[in-house]
Amino acid sequence: MTNEFVARSLDEVRFWSRIMKEHSLFLRLGFRCEDTQLINEANQFYSIFEAIENRAIAFNVGTDPQTIRRFNEEVHNAVSHIWVFKRKILGLILRCQLPGANNFPLLVDHVSREANYFRNRLAELNAGRLEPLPDAIIDENVFFLRIMADHAKFISHLLDPSERKLVDQANHFSEDFDQLLFQARDLDSMRPQSQTAPLLDQFLDQNRVSVASLRDFKRTARDLIEACRIKSIIHPLLADHVFREAERFLFIIDMFESSLTGKPMPRDPSVVMD
Ligand SMILES: [Fe+2]
Ligand SMILES: [Fe+2]
Repeated sequence: MTNEFVARSLDEVRFWSRIMKEHSLFLRLGFRCEDTQLINEANQFYSIFEAIENRAIAFNVGTDPQTIRRFNEEVHNAVSHIWVFKRKILGLILRCQLPGANNFPLLVDHVSREANYFRNRLAELNAGRLEPLPDAIIDENVFFLRIMADHAKFISHLLDPSERKLVDQANHFSEDFDQLLFQARDLDSMRPQSQTAPLLDQFLDQNRVSVASLRDFKRTARDLIEACRIKSIIHPLLADHVFREAERFLFIIDMFESSLTGKPMPRDPSVVMD
């Protein structure tokens, strides 16, 4: 049980600290050169999360759970700070105080939602209370479906408008995920009556199909961007970043599926067991 606490903590921190580190880079790239204070702050967050990521890699399942508990608190604190930073930037953009900067408000809101999610996961892990499975299934899907819908919109808006076919594909994904999100919210409002095993199982199956196809689209886009075969203002690391987040969602869906049905995981779990 204790080992599981350590393994799950390290898995979350390794995944999300890298994500937070990359958010700092993306935000920095979107600032204007005169925004030196904001650039410095973003650089500081980059170093903080890089150090956290390295420490999380150095720990292993044999590390004392008390050490991990304290580490989680420290990370929680850093994540709270980056959340405040992201919301501050959102406020500046929405009050038109950064004219000409290149971060979309929805992207800044999006990365702050991811920080909030990470912070909640850490708090849950340290409190040792996990949501009951039927609630976790709905809540995690509502969260991640919106994240996926946002990604499709970012890709569509950051591709060059002359990449008509790819923009069209991205827009289709955006519509598909908006629909899935509405369905998830319907299931949410029908709680607890909607939380039957067949309905939840079908919900996971349906979401998995769309997430797998969006994941494949992101992988293709990433490869094309890396090979400089398409026109866009998407940083190659951003393309890889959104691909990894889709992989994470798929892993979570598979984990739920196996808890719900008792069937083994169809894919290798990325949970750290070193
Ligand atoms: Fe992200
Ligand atoms: Fe994201």
